[in-house]
Amino acid sequence: MKRSEVNAIIQKAVDFLKDHNFSLPPFAFWSAREWARRRKETQEIKKCMLGWDITDFGLGHFKKIGLVLFTIRNGHMTDPQFKEKPYCEKILIADEDQMTPMHFHWNKMEDIINRAGGELKIQFYNSTRAGQLARDRVVISVDGLCRTIAAGAIITLKPGESVCIPPKLYHKFWAARGKGTVLIGEVSKINDDTTDNRFYEKIGRFPEIEEDVPARYLLFSDIGS
Ligand SMILES: [Fe+2]
Repeated sequence: MKRSEVNAIIQKAVDFLKDHNFSLPPFAFWSAREWARRRKETQEIKKCMLGWDITDFGLGHFKKIGLVLFTIRNGHMTDPQFKEKPYCEKILIADEDQMTPMHFHWNKMEDIINRAGGELKIQFYNSTRAGQLARDRVVISVDGLCRTIAAGAIITLKPGESVCIPPKLYHKFWAARGKGTVLIGEVSKINDDTTDNRFYEKIGRFPEIEEDVPARYLLFSDIGS
């Protein structure tokens, strides 16, 4: 992705969050100079990979297959200083028909919450032992209510509704066409995007950035460790 595209996507996200009265921590807006100045006090942010995370899943079609994420808090799987924190919170933004591809998490259990905006569609499959899409029915908890759905069924979450996604349950999601962009909350166990995602199709998680203009906002991957 070009840096100019990343800048524009984040600016749009900042405006969307403001419109929905969702405030981010101050470090969401720091310049590269500010990050450099605060180098010694930002160990937790860097180690636990907090901050902006824009992805096109390496496919180069962000509007069709992409996601805006901001990791607000997170622990760390192994670092003794941060592994006592067993939870993670993210805010995500999905546009109409913008897909997050089919994947599961090896260890992470996550609640996906429609916080505001349009309607969120999520499709589910169990995984076979070989990592294929299973044909048996899927049991999920929607706002604490147990639901059994067919393999490949799509549920719709309206604002305020949520679903709990256990490890190894395949899911893909997008915002419903004609209903608007969705502000998605994610509350989960510790998140490690470098090891915990299993995409059904071989795709990437983090984009290559082409530096065509200076960064207006820094991605977590820009900040370093
Ligand atoms: Fe997920």
